Amino acid sequence: MCGIVGYVGKSQAAPILLDGLAKLEYRGYDSAGIAVYDGEHLVGKKAMGRLKVLSEMTHDGASMPGYVGIGHTRWATHGAPTDNNAHPHFNEDETIAVVHNGIIENYLKLKKKLLDKGYRFQSDTDTEVVAHLLDYYYKGDPLEAITKVMHRVDGSYALGIIFADQPQYVYAVRKDSPLIVGKGQDGNLIASDVPAVLKYTRDVCFIENQEIARLSEREIDFFNVDGEPIEKEYKTIEWDVNAAEKGGYEHFMLKEMYEQPKTVRDTLSPRLKDNQIEIEELGLTDEEIRAISRIRIVACGSAYHTGVTAKYVYEGMARIPVEVDLASEFRYRNPILDEKELVIIISQSGETADSLAALREAKARGNMTLGIVNVVGSSIAREADKVMYTWAGPEIAVATTKAYSAQLIAHYLLALKFSTVRGTITEEELAGYITDLKRLPEQIELLLNNKERIQRFANRYVSAKDVFFIGRGIDYAISLEGSLKLKEISYIHSEAYAAGELKHGTISLIEDGTLVSAVVTQEDLYKKTISNIVEVRTRGAFVMAVTNEGNTEIEKAADYVIYIPQTNKYFTNSLAIIPLQLFGYYVAVGKGCDVDKPRNLAKSVTVE
Ligand code: M6R
Repeated sequence: MCGIVGYVGKSQAAPILLDGLAKLEYRGYDSAGIAVYDGEHLVGKKAMGRLKVLSEMTHDGASMPGYVGIGHTRWATHGAPTDNNAHPHFNEDETIAVVHNGIIENYLKLKKKLLDKGYRFQSDTDTEVVAHLLDYYYKGDPLEAITKVMHRVDGSYALGIIFADQPQYVYAVRKDSPLIVGKGQDGNLIASDVPAVLKYTRDVCFIENQEIARLSEREIDFFNVDGEPIEKEYKTIEWDVNAAEKGGYEHFMLKEMYEQPKTVRDTLSPRLKDNQIEIEELGLTDEEIRAISRIRIVACGSAYHTGVTAKYVYEGMARIPVEVDLASEFRYRNPILDEKELVIIISQSGETADSLAALREAKARGNMTLGIVNVVGSSIAREADKVMYTWAGPEIAVATTKAYSAQLIAHYLLALKFSTVRGTITEEELAGYITDLKRLPEQIELLLNNKERIQRFANRYVSAKDVFFIGRGIDYAISLEGSLKLKEISYIHSEAYAAGELKHGTISLIEDGTLVSAVVTQEDLYKKTISNIVEVRTRGAFVMAVTNEGNTEIEKAADYVIYIPQTNKYFTNSLAIIPLQLFGYYVAVGKGCDVDKPRNLAKSVTVE
């Protein structure tokens, strides 16, 4: 979802802006633009489509002189993805340039007022309102104009702003849309996310809601919404620049799938001490854990799918009842929460608008909230009462893989911790679970090494019209994610069904050759799912089954079998998902799709 970069310093700004925007491409966008101060004027260049078009238009930035600038990749919300609607937007005499992430909710009302005052608009965007409103309030003091605008606009925003008559500064403002500041050697930067600045600095500061940053070549000052100076702390980013690069892989998605053994190890090891689960950052006392009456998991997309898996794990292992909610539904349905309910919000980015709103809703009702988050310092991480980080590192591909795997591990660890404290598992059982957890990274590696076989199989389905994913219990949860992986990057229609539910309607879609993926990892449910496999095969389906090593019986029912190594019944999702990720990936590659940046999607969905 839109990306912002800004720079002021000793170097030419445009190439730095383009480079930073390229690091934010993963967020999803449909047009891009930059504005620089060339010594006399603000000059803007915008182009629909990929950043490459803008780079070519500006000779990689070389043809845009100037040492201060702002850039933007736009994911259209208000107004079609056109050159005109691309950012930056300007006031009428082009003395103020603005880039914006988020949505100005009262823009129509503001636009009408500005039109009445004689302002003329060039675009259909909500952002242009900000440029004209700044113009309206600007009397030579940028800070004053910005704070006045902040008091007038509703909604979410991260803004980068330059005033032509004060070209030594870049201003940055945020409310409910992420924005960071990077303190560099030769200049300072703003960006929507850390990878955009990592080439220049590791010292970053997270701008909080309703705060303003003013950057010059040497200084960075922060102010509150009333324009009063405030002090802020910087964080040093520890992860490697290479973590945000492709490192020889054809796609970020493939690289990230291959990082899963490490991700799982990194998320596990700091929490395994002397064969016990120690989640220091959780900060819940045993008494608080025993008092939990119910767990409510709230998330979107794949993070929601890990919640569906986790329900089976928490309930089965710790005997705590679990509700799983889609964040976009939770916030508007006036949910009934018990005061002793623990609300877990799961999010890779920590910025998903619906998940953040759900977190705030739960907090407002007085419930204890726990964020399972990947991006350190993100909004959900900062606002949740407790945070448990998934140590997956930066995830660039829009389709999540390694963050999903890390989220599963976080759930297993929490479930084990809760089970131990509440006495629902014995020490001996705990030791067994920990042994199984420790084996997961190498088992995932084994499955990844089998990629050629899956690639060959996937190549047969590049022209598929519909694919169905079925499973029971935890296997249904895996199917939800397998189906999403395939459809979001290959654009092939797919659906996941609880295996027993298919015959209540959807089975009518099965035709000769329809691919059905059946996940069959739960021993007590083998026979039941095999019956469902037989039902679809009888109607012409071709069945690919993912099952545990040793369950060779399945070869009598399924057409194509992928075996996963033996693990505990609660952890099978971590293994069964690997072939399904690979399958989705290779179908999309075979179709020639833009795997890392699928159409219409954004990495971080910061609008409702
Ligand atoms: O950053 P989040 O984990 O909150 O994102 C949630 C979903 O938007 C995300 O999982 C999405 O479904 C991905 N495209 C899945 O690959």
